[in-house]
Amino acid sequence: MSSTVNRRDLLKFGSLAALGMGIRLPSFGLGNEEGILRSEGMADGLINLSSNENPYGISPKAKEALLGALGEAHRYQYNHANLKDFKKELANYYGVNADQILVTAGSGEALGLLPRHFRGKLVTANPTFGILPATAKMLGNKVVEVPLTADQKHDLPAMLKEVDNETELVYVCNPANPSSTIVSPASLKSFCIEASKKAYVGVDEAYIDFLDAPDNESMMQLIEKHPKVFIIGTFSKIHAMAGLRIGWVIGHATLIKALSDNYFNRTQAAMSALSMSAALASLKDPEWHQLSKQKNAAARDYAYQELKKMNIDVIKSYTNFLFFPIPNYTGDFAADMLKKNIFLRSSNYVHGKWARASVGTMDEMKTFIEVMKGVRV
Ligand SMILES: Cc1ncc(COP(=O)(O)O)c(C=O)c1O
Repeated sequence: MSSTVNRRDLLKFGSLAALGMGIRLPSFGLGNEEGILRSEGMADGLINLSSNENPYGISPKAKEALLGALGEAHRYQYNHANLKDFKKELANYYGVNADQILVTAGSGEALGLLPRHFRGKLVTANPTFGILPATAKMLGNKVVEVPLTADQKHDLPAMLKEVDNETELVYVCNPANPSSTIVSPASLKSFCIEASKKAYVGVDEAYIDFLDAPDNESMMQLIEKHPKVFIIGTFSKIHAMAGLRIGWVIGHATLIKALSDNYFNRTQAAMSALSMSAALASLKDPEWHQLSKQKNAAARDYAYQELKKMNIDVIKSYTNFLFFPIPNYTGDFAADMLKKNIFLRSSNYVHGKWARASVGTMDEMKTFIEVMKGVRV
């Protein structure tokens, strides 16, 4: 299955979507991710490995629910009988109470609102997923970015050293984007407990469903005893609902109330009935998620092995994307790959020049690998 976004569509996305996609735009002073808005000469038939979407599509049950909801689309979401308990059902699924959860139009919305609520010093990693730190910087908040370790993992001890009385928020993405690595649940747990003695700690678990036990232990377990720890999640990844825009924040009821009473006060009323209908159905289709998880792992492992055979030092991925160094590439890698109909990301990070390619279908990854064989990185 290939994406059919063309060059005109990409240009149409503009800078707002670029920010949403985690692209760091120079106009915001956010760094130098390459090759997206200024690429030339792309034809249709693009293989889109740029946004870590799930190429297998939404669950058939979610599709059915979406179509069913269309007949009621003229009604406000709060008049849909089956959506009355949306938050409660979501809370049930995660084993929390309804007052410990708030929903947003994709977790990107939450990541953009959190630094508006928490204006004090932010401690996060570099690189990490862009929306939260980029927004914090745009607002003039103090941001401390701690480089990943040489093996591209969160440097939790170094981050903890930066958490002081001035710190209001810590943002940890686990599994990490763009580096595709994880830290162990035990180390993350003790980090969250320690850091939350001084600051709020938001753990972005967008990709946790791609993990196997014991790595897939959510930090949600901490929210009752450690009320400054909270989790950010999304339906865009394993649920394949990126275009339907559903995300959530789960935390202590006092934090959820404080957020809901402030910048998040309209997010829950702004949710689409169609999206919520699909989300409810998707929660009831674990077999579908398992299928895309397995297919993702097969395509990922294939591409990983092939890149290794080319002597590319690709990082072992725990996600649906691959992160690899391109130290010898002299041009704009993402822009040049786009000309070959492969849409991915590349950037100069603290550890040099790297690229990130999402895991597409096996066919897409085979094409990606063929293209990579003709490139020296
Ligand atoms: C780590 C992480 N968090 C959050 C998001 C935002 O997802 P969404 O806004 O689609 O929920 C993404 C998207 O790629 C991501 O990689």
